[in-house]
Amino acid sequence: MCRMRGEFTEGHTGPSRVPGVSGGTRGATTGPAHRQSAATCVTTVVGVTSAAGTGRRRQDAVYRAGVYGRHPRVPTVYRALAREARRRLDARAYGYVAGGAGDEDTQRADRAAFDRWAVVPRVLRDVSRRDTSVELFGRRLPAPLLLGPVGALELVHPEADLAVARAAASIGVPMVFSNQASVPMETTAAAMSDSPRWMQLYWSTSDELVESLLGRAEASGCDAVVVTLDTTMLGWRPRDLDLGHLPFALGKGIAQYTSDPVFRRLVEERAAAAGARDPQPRPTLAAVRALVGMARAWPGSLVENLRSPLPRAAVETFLSIYSRPSITWADLAWLRERTRLPIVLKGVLHPDDARRAVEEGVDGLVVSTHGGRQVDRSIAALDALPDVVDAVDDRVPVLFDSGIRSGADVLVAVALGARAVLLGRPYAWGLGVAGEDGVRQVVEDVLGEFDLTLGLTGHTAVDQLTREVLRRR
Ligand code: FNR
Ligand code: LAC
Repeated sequence: MCRMRGEFTEGHTGPSRVPGVSGGTRGATTGPAHRQSAATCVTTVVGVTSAAGTGRRRQDAVYRAGVYGRHPRVPTVYRALAREARRRLDARAYGYVAGGAGDEDTQRADRAAFDRWAVVPRVLRDVSRRDTSVELFGRRLPAPLLLGPVGALELVHPEADLAVARAAASIGVPMVFSNQASVPMETTAAAMSDSPRWMQLYWSTSDELVESLLGRAEASGCDAVVVTLDTTMLGWRPRDLDLGHLPFALGKGIAQYTSDPVFRRLVEERAAAAGARDPQPRPTLAAVRALVGMARAWPGSLVENLRSPLPRAAVETFLSIYSRPSITWADLAWLRERTRLPIVLKGVLHPDDARRAVEEGVDGLVVSTHGGRQVDRSIAALDALPDVVDAVDDRVPVLFDSGIRSGADVLVAVALGARAVLLGRPYAWGLGVAGEDGVRQVVEDVLGEFDLTLGLTGHTAVDQLTREVLRRR
């Protein structure tokens, strides 16, 4: 995929800038001859345009654009990407995405766990042709990578899930729709043609709502349903607490609910029951802004919604219905009876839970700490992965997230037994920095680095990645 549109920006001052070619003229030797020689030089460095594999194509696009003084809009390394997002986003949006539970020890542990593994590259093997694809639930995917569910994306970009869906579909990477999305799944699915998508579910206190969401996921062409088990209550998140900020309380990230017929009925019932007795907030500027936000979140005309009790009732209904901390293993049978989709449990860290899940007939697991957002001082997700993989013993696919920042990280997680990984914060930052193009660039960069690392370590296919390729540091 060699897309130039919107992914590059002018004004790079580094050595790849070619004076006299679109980027600037100072001290320039201008003219086609100069352009030609610079381009030829880059071609020699990075190979031909038709270079095989995602990685070489990505490098080729970047270095060629560099010849004309353009460089990637979105930094290609995670730390710089997060810094750029921080510069652009307001404190509440940045804090929500960046933040974790407590002292954020789990987030650090998730990353530190990667530092304890090293790959041992092998040489003199023919790696000129590489296949990064994997099969998952009957679909061949371009790489062992999905875009994980990330809620309330409207905080970072107005196109939110829609931009992510378009980027994912343009590459063929599956997107997992969040239950806390900012765009209803039907709208997002419609932007993806037949590209793969999954749905993530939070188990609400209303079984009727859960059934409705499942039916909608099936009708939206989802290949699987991911039930997130680690967030039956929101974790203790100091960054959000100190800002008094919960997106859902402002009507953000509740589009799967406000678009749902069951939820809407519950909202109407609640509004009718509360009537004029519902206390009105004091009319501060923040309260007015919040009410306008809630009115925007409710489908229909903004003017009518501003007069209607329904938008506020929707937020109240959501807050009371969001999740059910009482769910147990016994509830899985109920879910199994209500969907024909593969059921994947997200947030499993203990091998005994993994074993039990397989015995209960689930179709897949995601080893995850939820990006360290739920339990501080938790075991790192990568440290939990090998034991879960052993417990599952190939009976169902084990997926992984929490700490994936690069293609090299994907390789380590796959070598430790993950069938595929879910990308989280990196694509959210890409969205914040450059919308759909930003998401696309982040994903292409991760895929590109994965492809190159696969080959440069002496491998040509994903199933060659086993624990044998790694050493403990
Ligand atoms: C999440 N995550 C998440 N998970 C989920 O099942 N449903 C959701 O709605 C959300 N929402 C959400 C919002 C934000 C802002 C973040 C950062 C994460 C968790 C997500 O799917 C994944 O587990 C983590 O993002 C993995 O950690 P890293 O690799 O992103 O740090
Ligand atoms: C979060 C929820 C939405 O992590 O999963 O913020």
